[in-house]
Amino acid sequence: MNPVAKSFYVTTPIYYVNDAPHIGHAYTSTAGDVLTRWHRQRGEKVWFLTGVDEHGTKVERAAVQGGVTPQEWVDALVNDSWKPVLETIDAKNDDFIRTTEARHVERVRKFWENVKENGYVYSDSYEGPYCVGCEEFKFPADLVPGTGEFEGSQVCAVHGRPPEELSEDNWFFKLSDFTQPLIDRYEANPNAVRPASAYNEVMSFLRGGLVDISMSRSSVKWGIPLSWDESQVVYVWFDALLNYITAVGYGAEPATTEAELFERVWPVDVHLVGKDILRFHAVYWPAMLMAAGLEPPKQVFAHGWLLVGGEKMSKTKLTGIAPELIIDHFGSDAFRYYFMRAIAFGQDGSFSWEDMSARYTSELANGLGNLVSRATAMVGKYFEGQLPAEGPISHVEKTIHALLTKTVVDANACIDELDFAGAIGQVRTFIEHINGYVTEQEPWVLAKSEETYGALATVLYTVCESLRAIAVLYNPVMPKAMGLMWSNIGAREALGELCDQRVESASTWGQLPAGVRVHKGESLFPRLEDPESI
Ligand code: MSP
Repeated sequence: MNPVAKSFYVTTPIYYVNDAPHIGHAYTSTAGDVLTRWHRQRGEKVWFLTGVDEHGTKVERAAVQGGVTPQEWVDALVNDSWKPVLETIDAKNDDFIRTTEARHVERVRKFWENVKENGYVYSDSYEGPYCVGCEEFKFPADLVPGTGEFEGSQVCAVHGRPPEELSEDNWFFKLSDFTQPLIDRYEANPNAVRPASAYNEVMSFLRGGLVDISMSRSSVKWGIPLSWDESQVVYVWFDALLNYITAVGYGAEPATTEAELFERVWPVDVHLVGKDILRFHAVYWPAMLMAAGLEPPKQVFAHGWLLVGGEKMSKTKLTGIAPELIIDHFGSDAFRYYFMRAIAFGQDGSFSWEDMSARYTSELANGLGNLVSRATAMVGKYFEGQLPAEGPISHVEKTIHALLTKTVVDANACIDELDFAGAIGQVRTFIEHINGYVTEQEPWVLAKSEETYGALATVLYTVCESLRAIAVLYNPVMPKAMGLMWSNIGAREALGELCDQRVESASTWGQLPAGVRVHKGESLFPRLEDPESI
C-alpha cells in the first residue's frame, strides 16, 4: 500500500470561551489563514484547524457570573462570537473544534487511559499556587512582585494578580521522565521551536529539569471526567492540547475517513501559539505525545503579543479591541494585511489607528490601489478595454521579469520562515518598482502619437502582467481585493480562479493573453473617513 500523501497541517490555539474574541485572538487565526492559503497556492494539501477551549475554572466562573450554566454560556459565545469572527476576518479553516464535542471528550478519555497504561500516571497530592487566568500550576520562579493593590504579594507575571493556593489529591503525569528526551530532540532539531528566543527559553526551562505535574483536578466540575476515576476531571490544559489530535481522527476506527485524516496530517507541521503558552506546547504537549507513543509536533512557533500601553492586550485587563471595530472601518483585507505586515511575526507590536490609517493610505490605496486603477483606466481609454499584445521589450522590461522571478522566490522563502512581513515586503518592493516604471515610461505621453503606440502597448501589458502576478502573491493575504483585481484585469476569464494559481509559476511571464477584457471596476481600497470620526 502506498503511504498516504502528507498534508500541511497548521493549528491555532483553541481560545478560551470566557468572553468574546479580541484582535489578539484574530491575530493568530489570521496568521494561520495566510500561511495555509499560501501553501494551498503551492498546490499542497492543507489542513487548517482552529477552535475553542471550553472547560476549566476560568470559563466556569464566567458562566456563573453570567448567571447561566457553563454549557449555555459556551454555546452562546461560540455561536454568536467565536464562529462568526472567523468569517469577519475571512478565515478559511478546514475544521473548528469545540472541547465539549463528543469526538473530543471520548478521545481525551482514551488518550489518558493509554498514557496511564503506559505507566506515566500516578496519584499524589498537589499543594501550591494556581493562576486561574493562565489555568496553570505556578512555580515560585514564574511569579513576580505585585504592584498597586497587590503590593507585597507575589503575582502572576501575565495577569498581575496573586495566584490561588490549591491543595488537592490529583493524578500526576510523569513529566520528569521527558526532560532528557526533549533536550535531545531539540538539540538535534533547533527548528522545532521558533523563533530562536522561544527555543532558548524552552531549552533553559528543560535544562532546569522537569517535575511531575497534576493531570487532573478534583475541585473542578466543568471538565472531562477521567475514565478510571470519575470524581476528577482532566486538567484543562491536558484536555485542550489534545484537540490537535482529537479533531483530526486520533483514536478513530481504523480504515475510516477520520483515521485516514490522522495519517495524512500527523505529526503537525506548525502549531502557532502566543508566547505566553509556549511551555505548554513545546514541553508538556510533546511529552504527553511521547508518553502515548505518538510523534511530537514538527514545529511550535511562538509569536509576540499585541500590546496596549506596553502590556499584553487582554480580556482580563479589559484592553481587548473587537476585530469588528477595525474591520467595519478598514475591511478584512486591510486588517489581515496590516497585522501581517506591521508586526514582525515572533515579536511584540502595538496596534494604533493612526499607523493603520497611514499604511492603508500609503501602501494599499496609493500604492497598489492607484496602480490598478491607473492601469485598468488606461487600457480602457487607449485600447477600448482590451489588453494589447506586448510590443517590443527592452532591458527595462527584462529587469521587471527578473525582479518578479526574484520576488516569487524570496517571498516563498519568507513564508517558509513564517516571516509574513518579509513576504509582503518583497511584493511591495515589486509594486513600487512597477509604480516607478509607469511614472518613468509616461504612458499618457506615449498615447499621444501613433508611432509610440507599440511602446504604450508594452507598458500597459507589462503592468497588467505584473498585476496578475501580484494578485497571486497577495491572494493569501487579501483574498477579497485580489479576487476583484483578478477579475478586473481579465485574468479570471482567461486563466480561471485565482485560488487555483500556483505561487511558483506566478513569475512565468506572458500568461495574460492579449485581447482579454480589462475594466476599471470599483476601487480596491476606497478612501476612508478619518478614524477620529468613528
Ligand atoms: N485556551 C488556551 C490555549 C489552549 S491551546 C491548546 C488559551 N487561550 S487564550 O484565549 O487565552 O489565548 C490563546 C491565544 O490567543 C494566545 O496564545 C495567542 O495566540 C492569542 N492571543 C491572546 N491575546 C493575545 C495578544 N494580546 N496578542 C497576541 N496574541 C494573543 O491560552
